[in-house]
Amino acid sequence: METAHFETDLSLFKYDNLEQLPAPFRDLGEDERTERIETALDELGDDVVILGHNYQRREIVEHADFIGDSYQLSKEAADSDADYVIFGGVTFMAESADIITDDDQSVILPSMEASCPMAGMAEALQVDAAWAEITAETDERIIPITYMNSYADLKAFCAEQGGLVCTSSNAHKAFEYAFEKGDKVLFLPDKHLGENTAYRLGIEDEIVEWDPWDPESKDASKAVENDVILWDGYCQVHERFRVEHIEQIRADHEDAKVIVHPECRREVVEAADKTGSTATICETVENADPGETWAIGTEIHLTHHLQRWHPEVNVLPLCGEACMDCNAMRQIDPNYLTWVLEELVEGRERNVIEVAPEEKELAQVALDRMLEI
Ligand code: 13P
Ligand code: SF4
Repeated sequence: METAHFETDLSLFKYDNLEQLPAPFRDLGEDERTERIETALDELGDDVVILGHNYQRREIVEHADFIGDSYQLSKEAADSDADYVIFGGVTFMAESADIITDDDQSVILPSMEASCPMAGMAEALQVDAAWAEITAETDERIIPITYMNSYADLKAFCAEQGGLVCTSSNAHKAFEYAFEKGDKVLFLPDKHLGENTAYRLGIEDEIVEWDPWDPESKDASKAVENDVILWDGYCQVHERFRVEHIEQIRADHEDAKVIVHPECRREVVEAADKTGSTATICETVENADPGETWAIGTEIHLTHHLQRWHPEVNVLPLCGEACMDCNAMRQIDPNYLTWVLEELVEGRERNVIEVAPEEKELAQVALDRMLEI
């Protein structure tokens, strides 16, 4: 398949950022590492649970007690009574786990470098300023919804304003909740998930984008003429997929079906056969008949896991070689996992994620609202 060229950078060049690791952990071979991880896990027993997001590397998910999407992992964290929750995922997920777990449990993120760029696209300060501008233009009630891919202070802000958190698997329910409580939605930070959800609910003509970086394009009085205001954030891994990729897959494999993540552009979601969270993508391949062909429009590690887990299904990456890995997820190197586990065996907690107490309580309200819808 021909590869298209896009403006976004491939994250491949930032691989193997092992500088934060003590030198003896930097070049462990796979066999030695696996043995050391298993030995540490045996010693730690029920004190530790490892949660792994579907985008984590093979060498991480192989050791995970539970693998899933953001929603499933937050439920697992809430249900776990292990002293240490080791999170194979990115910072905002570990923060959410810290908020949801009890105070005597510690959440550990093996590498502190694992930060989702999309979460950084909506900073609470920036959102505060936009909120003041937008709400000054209307008497109607606006409910903010933040995607799980955001930091705790933004989750706290949403709770304070009567809003909530959602993930890609329950964004439609969060919209329904918001329209029961208010008149309009401000959706942060992923404009594509917001737009795809609005379309799913038939709110197609009432959508406007809010670009916080472009003062010229912002017009609060125009924004409030719409029911759904979308913050202009996006995921570069998912923006990469184009309708041409779907057309090419269908030309090359006439029986191919296509499933994409709802962080993809609207036109890509529309052209696909199915859309859903990473858990839905997993279930779709799991339930496929042997010999079926599914092209996957999401982060490349998950596509590779599905190829390994379901050899009876023909699983293809939607844009071939051009499909990206997520550089944030990729930071959780298995050598870091070895280090944090062996340090725990020695009684030392490393890379503990702790949300500031003043944010924790409110952010928990926003997360609890999500877990209840
Ligand atoms: P899921 O909730 O579908 O696992 O997605 C998380 C994510 O970061 C997708 O880019
Ligand atoms: Fe963030 Fe995109 Fe990575 Fe998901 S795939 S964690 S949205 S950068």
